[in-house]
Amino acid sequence: MSTSSTPSAKIAPSVLASDFGKLTAECTRMIKDGADWLHMDVMDGHFVPNITIGAPVLKSVSDSVTGAWMDCHMMVADPARWVKDVADAGGKSYTFHIEATGEEGADKVIDLIHEHGMKCGVAVSPHTPSTAITDAIGNKADMLLVMTVVPGRGGQKFMAECVPKVSELRARFPGKDIQVDGGLSEKTVKPCADAGSNVIVAGTAIFNAENPSDVIFKLRKAVDDGKSSWPKAA
Ligand code: DX5
Ligand code: ZN
Repeated sequence: MSTSSTPSAKIAPSVLASDFGKLTAECTRMIKDGADWLHMDVMDGHFVPNITIGAPVLKSVSDSVTGAWMDCHMMVADPARWVKDVADAGGKSYTFHIEATGEEGADKVIDLIHEHGMKCGVAVSPHTPSTAITDAIGNKADMLLVMTVVPGRGGQKFMAECVPKVSELRARFPGKDIQVDGGLSEKTVKPCADAGSNVIVAGTAIFNAENPSDVIFKLRKAVDDGKSSWPKAA
């Protein structure tokens, strides 16, 4: 992840949209098709009503998929609780929601994540303003995540009203990775990329595509093209 210069485009297929019965093959084909990261959606049935995967599945992926860089999106009510397990399972970055911790709690969780050798992301759900990520928290984190659907499941419709939050964060944090997640595809990526997002998560649009490498290429190109429109630093 970048901290000072303009951050590079990264495309992260959301493994939630894969066929879990063939998980190793599904992850491997994404890496062959040009994915930079694997986006792993962990849900605990509390922060969101759904339950997905946990540390044992993350460990299987890191053991069986060569070159897997697991970007772990933790939709959990108690982010501190899972940091060690995810680090031990091979997670490379750990993104938690500011709604789960508040500002003071976020500060402590960021330290814990860094102590466990992972990069740290801080997420905002659609109904949370980007200003919930204060300057202090944003500067301490490695990545900021703007959700463009209500967290909880894949295959939902992109919420364009979340895009101004990307611009606001890009102006305040010019060197950070800014991720968008939810309903992203070749059709919806442009406003996000133009607003300042450089990390694109896409589940359905990549896994269900006839030619995933072509979709990954187009998402990356949208980010590279969008950089010239990024809002200038505040
Ligand atoms: C939603 C998850 C997303 C989701 C994305 O709670 O955080 O990562 O799987 O899937 P698509 O791209 O299908 O919206
Ligand atoms: Zn996600």
